[in-house]
This record gives sequence, structure tokens and C-alpha cells, in this order.
Amino acid sequence: MKIRYVFLLFLGLASPGVSRTLLGMNKSLAGEISPAAAKRQTGELLADLSTLPDAALSPAGWTIKNILLGNRAAVSPQDLTTVYTAPGPLDSSECRRETCCVWKYIADAMATSFRDGAGRCNELARQAVRLGFHDAGTWSKSAGGGGADGSVLLAPSELARDDNRALEVVAAQMAAWYAEWRPRGARMADLIQMGAVVAAASCPLGPRARAFVGRNDSATPAPPDRLPSAANSDAAALAALFADKTLSLGELVALVGAHTTSVQRFFDPLAAGSPQDSTPGVWDTLYYNQTASSDPPQGVFRFPSDLALSQYPPARELWQTFANAQAVWNDDFAAAYVHLSVLGVEHINDLTECTGVLPLSG
Ligand code: HEM
Ligand SMILES: *[C@@H]1O[C@H](CO)[C@@H](O)[C@H](O)[C@H]1NC(C)=O
Ligand SMILES: *[C@@H]1O[C@H](CO)[C@@H](O)[C@H](O)[C@H]1NC(C)=O
Ligand SMILES: *[C@@H]1O[C@H](CO)[C@@H](O)[C@H](O)[C@H]1NC(C)=O
Repeated sequence: MKIRYVFLLFLGLASPGVSRTLLGMNKSLAGEISPAAAKRQTGELLADLSTLPDAALSPAGWTIKNILLGNRAAVSPQDLTTVYTAPGPLDSSECRRETCCVWKYIADAMATSFRDGAGRCNELARQAVRLGFHDAGTWSKSAGGGGADGSVLLAPSELARDDNRALEVVAAQMAAWYAEWRPRGARMADLIQMGAVVAAASCPLGPRARAFVGRNDSATPAPPDRLPSAANSDAAALAALFADKTLSLGELVALVGAHTTSVQRFFDPLAAGSPQDSTPGVWDTLYYNQTASSDPPQGVFRFPSDLALSQYPPARELWQTFANAQAVWNDDFAAAYVHLSVLGVEHINDLTECTGVLPLSG
């Protein structure tokens, strides 16, 4: 209870408007890792963040470093309040001067296309969340290559892989957005990661994970067989696959909760159209409840790997925690997603935060 209370207090302080010197001032506080978060993150730093001294960190570098460290007292992985207002129309000189300005126009267009008439997030949004995983998730710490570099769409042979089936709708939309926004400076890797975060925030109850731009693109296909989409893996194999991406078991459990919104088509074509919980298009915790249930509702299709993960002894307690606590899960999902979204980025410290462009969570 006490930990939650302290954490809520800091939520207010952690918004980007607040000077980071204020937050960085108390070193012993900034270095403190909350016991709950520590178990859920590897605490491993990536790329340039593992060598740059704190004094050399940009605001985005400092934020991402503390998210990777699980340092929730200093940085909230979500920002539920900051709203970015464009200083001028698209293509005006005022707008061109600010990195986030074009992203405000992009995120608004994305958010509009991610909701259906009933206010739920639609198929395009679901595919956008999955696409963010499928671009970034090809990175491997031990073998290199892949990562959040846009290659899932820029390299036609990568998109054609079995792993990437059922992403056609978002692939076509992203190609159109790329044609529209590339001349204004947006890169594919950022469109994909921004798309995933906007999509999650567009779902009712969805998290508002912190969003960063500035990634480089690559048209080199990622090495194959880096994604788990066969959905038949056992839990230990999945944990090992994610560990090779520096993602902890806790982060895996948090990320796979994205299946709260999903509807499978190809894993079992005979059950095409069946959702992974009874409320697809809503970012609730029913996925955790129903995957772990001894009596899941009719029509809910559980992937064998999701079921295995929910029953994996080292994951069970956290699975149940998420089932019962939307706010805890949203924070953990956001932290894990920020981590995922910078895999393979060479100079994380060069990124810029544009969370304010996201829709306010629904
Ligand atoms: C842990 C291992 C994972 C496995 C085995 C897995 C597997 C799958 C499979 C088989 C589908 C259905 C594709 C189809 O037939 O239409 C799917 C859908 C989806 N996955 Fe995963 N996934 C995993 C993790 C993740 C992660 C980490 C994310 C995002 C952070 C994610 C997001 C999604 C979303 C949003 C959909 C729904 C797409 C739609 O409704 O069109 N998945 N996943
Ligand atoms: C920093 O925070 C710690 C723990 O809350 C506190 O004991 C200490 O006095 C603080 N130091 C400064 C310089 O404010
Ligand atoms: C799911 O939720 C129902 C209703 O709140 C509850 O009775 C059940 O124990 C939950 N199951 C799991 C596995 O969390
Ligand atoms: C993108 O590539 C350029 C040139 O190699 C490099 O200077 C820059 O730091 C890279 N950006 C990121 C975010 O890694």
C-alpha cells in the first residue's frame, strides 16, 4: 500500500514538463529500485546507455535508462497527462522547428483510424501493436541483427515470412502513411513504434506508454526465426527467447497481455476470428483471467503458449497480479514496451520523447 502511494506521488513529478534536475537531485532516491519492479525487469542497459555517464544523458536517454532499470520512483513508464500542442499548422516553419510537431499530426491521424464506431480499438490497431513487436522483437543480444529499424516493412522478404502473416492490413496502411510522412521527415521504424503505442492508447483502458522518435531505418531483412509466433512453444523456451532480447520473464508476461485485444486468424484457421479473451478491442485484464481459468468462456481461443505461460510456476504469481490489477499491468506493459521499442537502436540517447502527441487513454 505504502509503495503504491509513494509511486502515485511521483507520477505527478515524473511528467516531462518537470525539470529533470529536480528529479535527478536526490541520487540515492534515483538509484533506488522498487522491490516490486526489480523482479520484473532485468535491469540491463542497452547500447549507448550502458556506457554514457549520467551527466551525458539527454532527457530521453535519462528517461529510458531509468525505465530499463525499473526505477519507478524516478520515472513513470506511462505519462497519462502531458498533451503536446502543435505550435502551428503542418508544414509551417513553427511546426518544422519542433521534432514532435509532425508526430502530433501523425498520431492524430493514426488514433482516428484505430477506433471503431463503438469506441473500441479495431483490427488495424491490433495489427499495429503486433507489428511493433514483430519489428523490434527480431533483435538478439547474443547474435545481433534485427531490432526496431523498420525492416519488417522495408524488406519485402521479411514481411512475407510466416511469422508476419495476418499483418496485411497494417502493412498496407503503414506503406500509405510512409508515403505521406516520409517527405516530412518521419522514418518507418518510428512510424511502426509510434503506431503500436498510439494503438494501445486508443483501446479502452489502454496504457499511455512513453513514446520516442529518432530511430534509423534499415531495409536489410532481420535474421529469421527470432519471433515466437508459432504459439506452440513451452514457457521455458519462450522465457529463453525473450531473455536473449534482454526481456525478463516478467516483461514477457506483461507484453503477452497484448493478446487482451487480439483476434487470431491463421494460428488455427478452423477457428478464424476467435478472440483471446471475451472482450477483443478492449485493453482489460480479462485475458489474464480467462487464459488462467479452468472454465474459459465459449468462443475464447487460447494459444497453447499463452496457456503454458500462465501455468509456468515462476510466472503464475505475476500472471495473477495482472489479472487483478489493471493499473499495475498498464505500468508494467508500458515499461516493457519502451524496452522492446528501443531494441537494436544504436544511439538511444539520440532519441526524442514525444509522448504528448498520444491520445489521452480511453
Ligand atoms: C509470447 C509469445 C507470443 C506468441 C506465441 C504470439 C502469437 C500470436 C499469434 C499466433 C497471433 C495470431 C495471429 C493470427 O493467426 O491472426 C497473435 C496475435 C497478436 N499478437 Fe501475439 N504472440 C506473442 C507475443 C506477443 C507480444 C509480445 C505482443 C505485443 C506486445 C503481441 C501482440 C499481438 C496482437 C496485438 C495480436 C492480435 C492481432 C490481430 O488481432 O490481428 N503478441 N500473436
Ligand atoms: C534523498 O532521499 C533519501 C531517501 O528518501 C533521504 O534519506 C535523503 O535525506 C535524501 N537526500 C537529499 C540530499 O535530499
Ligand atoms: C476470474 O474472475 C472471476 C470473476 O471475478 C473469478 O471468480 C475467478 O477466480 C478469476 N479467475 C482467475 C484465474 O483469475
Ligand atoms: C542513426 O545513424 C547515424 C549515422 O550513423 C548516427 O549518428 C545516429 O546516432 C543514429 N541514430 C540512432 C538513434 O541510433
